[in-house]
Parts: sequence; C-alpha cells; structure tokens
Amino acid sequence: MPSLSVFGAQWGDEGKGKIIDLLSDRVDVVVRYQGGANAGHTVVVDGEKWVLHLIPSGILHPGKVNVIGAGVAIDPVTLLGEIDGLRERGVDVNPARLRIAANAHVIFEQHKRIDGLNERWKGSGRIGTTGRGIGPAYGDKAARTGLRIADLLDPERCGGRLRANLAEKNALIARVHEEPPLPTDELVERYAALGERLRPFVGDTGAELRAAERADKRILFEGAQGIMLDIDHGTYPYVTSSNTGPGGIPSGAGVPPRMIGHAVGIAKAYCTRVGEGPFPSELDGEAAKRLRDAGHEYGTTTGRPRRAGNFDAVQVRYGLELAGAASWIMTKLDVLSGLGDIDVVTGYRVNGERFEDYPAHLSTIDEVETEVETLSGWTEDISGARSLEELPDTARAYVERVEEIVGVPICMLSVSAERDAVIQRSSIFEDGWIEEAAGDAPVGAAR
Ligand code: IMP
Repeated sequence: MPSLSVFGAQWGDEGKGKIIDLLSDRVDVVVRYQGGANAGHTVVVDGEKWVLHLIPSGILHPGKVNVIGAGVAIDPVTLLGEIDGLRERGVDVNPARLRIAANAHVIFEQHKRIDGLNERWKGSGRIGTTGRGIGPAYGDKAARTGLRIADLLDPERCGGRLRANLAEKNALIARVHEEPPLPTDELVERYAALGERLRPFVGDTGAELRAAERADKRILFEGAQGIMLDIDHGTYPYVTSSNTGPGGIPSGAGVPPRMIGHAVGIAKAYCTRVGEGPFPSELDGEAAKRLRDAGHEYGTTTGRPRRAGNFDAVQVRYGLELAGAASWIMTKLDVLSGLGDIDVVTGYRVNGERFEDYPAHLSTIDEVETEVETLSGWTEDISGARSLEELPDTARAYVERVEEIVGVPICMLSVSAERDAVIQRSSIFEDGWIEEAAGDAPVGAAR
C-alpha cells in the first residue's frame, strides 16, 4: 500500500491539522518527519479545540500509531507538556501509540535562547522565527555538535556532550550578546530527568515504519509548515530549517523514497504568511485586516497576527509541481464569504517579462509585479455545504476558476473548522486510498 504525504502548499497555516485529522480515520500510522514545535496544528472536534505542536494529529484517533521521526527537532519540555495535556483531557497516549525516533535531534534551552538573541542581533534583517529554537538546533545537527534523543537516555554520554554544547552557547550568549549564561549543572540534571520520562516511547522508528509497510499498513506523512518555507526550495533565507515537502520524508522518517506514494497539497482559498520575507500577493491596510479577522489569522504557536493576501496561483502551482502532487485540497473557503469581490494572482511580471515559474532568487521575487483576475464574491454562509451544488454560484465559480488557473485538480474543499465540514469532490487517490463519497462512508464519518 503506497503511503500518503500531506503537505502545506503555501507558507504554512493552511489548515493541515484538520485535514490530517480527517484522513487519519483511514490510516494506521501518522508520521511527523520534519520541523518541531514551531508547528501548531489545530483540530476542532465537536466544538472542542485541540492544538498539537509535536505529536502527530492521529493521536486524537483511538488505535492509530503516531510517529515522531528522526528529522523532527524535539523539544522534550514541549513534548512532555503535550503528552500530559492530552492525557488530562482523556486521550490515551501510551508507548504503543506514540513512537519517538532515537535519532531525532533535541532542542535544548540554549537553542531557544540563541534563537531569540539571533533575531535581536539581526535587527531589521530578522527572519521572524517562532522562537522555538528550530534554526539553532538544526544548525547544531549540521555542525555535528547536536545531541539526539538516544543521547538523552544515556546520562553519562549526555552530560559530557551537553556540557560541551552549553559551553559553546554560553560563550556566545555572554560574549556576543552580553547576556547572563545558562546554568549548566541545572540543565544537565533537568534534561536527564526529561529523557527518563521519554524513554518508554523511544525506538528505531525508521525500522518500525519499514516493517509497517511490509505489513501493508497505511501510512500518512504529516508535513509541517509549508513548501514556501522549505530550506532549499522556499524563499530563502526567510524559511524554516527543514525540508517541508514530501522531499523531506525519506531522510526525515527513515524510509526509502519509493514509500512515498501519493502527495496531496493543502492551500487556503487565500494566503497568509507569518514572519518576514517576500509575499507577492500580500494585502495591506483595511483589506488585510478584514481577511485576517475573518480567518482568525493569528498564530497558534506565537499568537502573532499573520500577514494576509490573495490566493497566488503562481506560487501554489510551483509548490504542487515541486512536490509532485496530483491533487490539492482548498481550505477555509468559508472565510471569503461577505468579503466582496476577490482578486487572484494569475501571473508575475518582472521588468515587463512574464514569469510562469516561481522566481528562485529573493531579489527577483522582491521586484515582482502581480497580474490579478477579479472574481465575484458571495455573501452566504457556506459552512453547511457538503457538495459543490450547495455552494452559491459565485463560490463554485471561484473554486473552478482557481483550479483552472493552478492547473491541478482540487479533490476536497474545507468550509469550516469542524471535522466533517468538507466537500469531497472526487476520488482523491487511486488504489482505493480514499474512496469516492458515493457508495462509501464520507471521510471523517468513522468517528
Ligand atoms: P522557525 O521555523 O521558527 O525558525 O521560523 C522560520 C520562519 O518560518 C518564520 O517566518 C516563521 O514564522 C515561519 N514558520 C515556522 N513554523 C511555521 C508554521 O508552523 N506556520 C507558519 N509559519 C511558520
């Protein structure tokens, strides 16, 4: 059974949490393969809101196995807080249901501290990170000075290496940033205790996933952030520090590339971005505020107001092509209700020359002039629609025109945050992955 990769096709915050939660009904295993607690996946079930930062969204489905793979940068404090929080609300989080890669890298206190200090140091050149220590932890991984989860379980090995790491970071903190150093002994002791608590969940998750494939299990790879934040193919340097698309799966999960079956991108009916960096379809002033407020576009991880803009077909086409996605899911269509006519970016021009592809260089993106097409809006509440026919004509025309411009079919639409608020448009995947609504229970109906 080929696996399924679900990834963000914009700059993150596309509503992946809800879609992954919905598809989790049909899979056996859900896997995070990159990123860390910079992600904030929101799921609403029966009006109750859940926000997951590190644990895959499948945890809300009894019986599903959830894997945090080697490519994830794990903050043990956040992870254990999340485990405790889920248990308090009655979710069964046990070592059979939650698996943590022994070779995943650890985000320590010093990484979070350096993340904030680096941003301060950069001033107006800052990235606008989430402050979760992502860049510094992946930096240590690449520099081969990081520690992995397995190291945490071996206090003797961990102590020495953690001290060495802290010595280097403390020198930076004190000498460059002129701030007080972090307490080494206290941190060594604290992380040893955190490691002990994580021990039952830790294993060789790559081997476990390869065995799951041999046992014909259905595996869903849950991307965090969006393809435009990919460290190699996004708007560098205004990106996160991992490969956010399906390209990150083999190394991030420890599985062979052939295990990636279908890839489906998620994109909102409009667009947002958090932090700094280019955003060609960005709106400003009152128009941005109306969209931001209508879509509750405030960060789940940081609470920051998100920058808001129009749907950008050039950008989404690029993301889907890069990931090899044969279809995509449009989310938050309901947010556009009552906002008037809607512009969609259909092309880019630089110095009069039309661009079909997303520019690779920041300097070019900065100079981009957008071409837009204005589509008619609608005023009706569409959150109860469960088929295209139930949408107002102009909303349906919006969906169909956007799909045409992007050139990749939309397989599903999301029309509110609730789990069952989707319009299933066509069979998403071949191989019986997600059958058509006709003759089969709609996705999300199993619970
Ligand atoms: P970092 O991943 O915290 O280093 O942040 C790098 C950039 O990615 C910043 O612009 C963040 O706002 C953005 N970013 C990181 N994680 C997310 C996410 O889950 N959603 C949206 N943006 C994100």
